[in-house]
Amino acid sequence: MKAIVYRSFGGPEVLELADLPTPKTQQDSVLVRVRAAGLNPADNVIRAGALADSMDTFFPVVPGWDFAGVVERAGAGAPEWTPGDEVIGYLREPVLHHGTYAELVAAPVTAVTRKPANASWAEAAGLPLAGLTAYQAVVEHLRVTSGETVLVHGASGGVGSLAAQLAVRSGATVIGTAGLSNHDYLRSVGVTPVAYGDGLIERVRDVATGGVDAVLDAAGHGALASTAAVGRPGVRAVSIADASPDATTVFARHDLPTLKELVQLVEAGDLTIRVAATYPLRQAAEAQRALAAGRHSGKIVLVP
Ligand SMILES: NC(=O)c1ccc[n+]([C@@H]2O[C@H](COP(=O)([O-])OP(=O)(O)OC[C@H]3O[C@@H](n4cnc5c(N)ncnc54)[C@H](OP(=O)(O)O)[C@@H]3O)[C@@H](O)[C@H]2O)c1
Repeated sequence: MKAIVYRSFGGPEVLELADLPTPKTQQDSVLVRVRAAGLNPADNVIRAGALADSMDTFFPVVPGWDFAGVVERAGAGAPEWTPGDEVIGYLREPVLHHGTYAELVAAPVTAVTRKPANASWAEAAGLPLAGLTAYQAVVEHLRVTSGETVLVHGASGGVGSLAAQLAVRSGATVIGTAGLSNHDYLRSVGVTPVAYGDGLIERVRDVATGGVDAVLDAAGHGALASTAAVGRPGVRAVSIADASPDATTVFARHDLPTLKELVQLVEAGDLTIRVAATYPLRQAAEAQRALAAGRHSGKIVLVP
């Protein structure tokens, strides 16, 4: 099978298209023909070697954690799946070796659920990591409730857009920071947009006159420094992007029941995944460069 690999840490130029053996599947695993693989900022960080001290690495490494595809083979211990089933998965292994930038992946049943029927392949491949992160931040950590006012920094991004939609669905009034070109998009999902940068505090106060109850930083760039000035007393803050003494850091964990719930939310029309661009598998380096450049709006996805 064709896959993207890197044989040493480095910039996007270390990515190359290679021929690899078909992944071996265990009894509790499925072999999936990948139709789309979602990129995440972590892919760039890991390829650069930033986690070399905390993750055992077996070169060549196939990058990527998110995939959507069609079951080709199911082990005897994976009776819930049959060839032809359309699935998504979060293939997050404790070591760096097998990833999803590939034509085929072997995934344990614990990593896989069915694809949202109403989502395209690219949309479906953008859901796992971003969706898990957004859900854990908004629903499990911030515990956003109806009637609250929530500020999402980076509300137009892969995670932020899902987080903002989850907060809207909880019945909150949601204010989201984004670049001007994304303000119409935010309005379309029920979010009040404000521009980030100088003057942010005044702009948030203009639209949240009583202050905000909860803040999610899905952008970084020091956005959390505004929390005390825009928050009500007792404001709750979490961050997925910046470590801050004023916010709880949330690091996404795989959780199959949550992934299943996200699929149901997509199918119910409560959650839409925004795809910024798709690239053929062989252009993985260009796709990662585009991700790093930060001018995309939504998920960047590889299509084998
Ligand atoms: N902790 C975890 O488990 C976890 C999981 C996933 C991601 N992350 C991290 O979370 C961050 C977001 O990930 P993502 O996949 O959503 O990335 P993304 O799709 O690239 O989105 C980034 C967002 O940041 C916004 N932004 C850019 N410059 C900004 C600024 N100066 N102030 C405020 N917002 C700004 C962008 O807005 P415009 O496009 O509108 O300009 C965009 O909405 C990344 O740092 C990523 O590494 C952490």
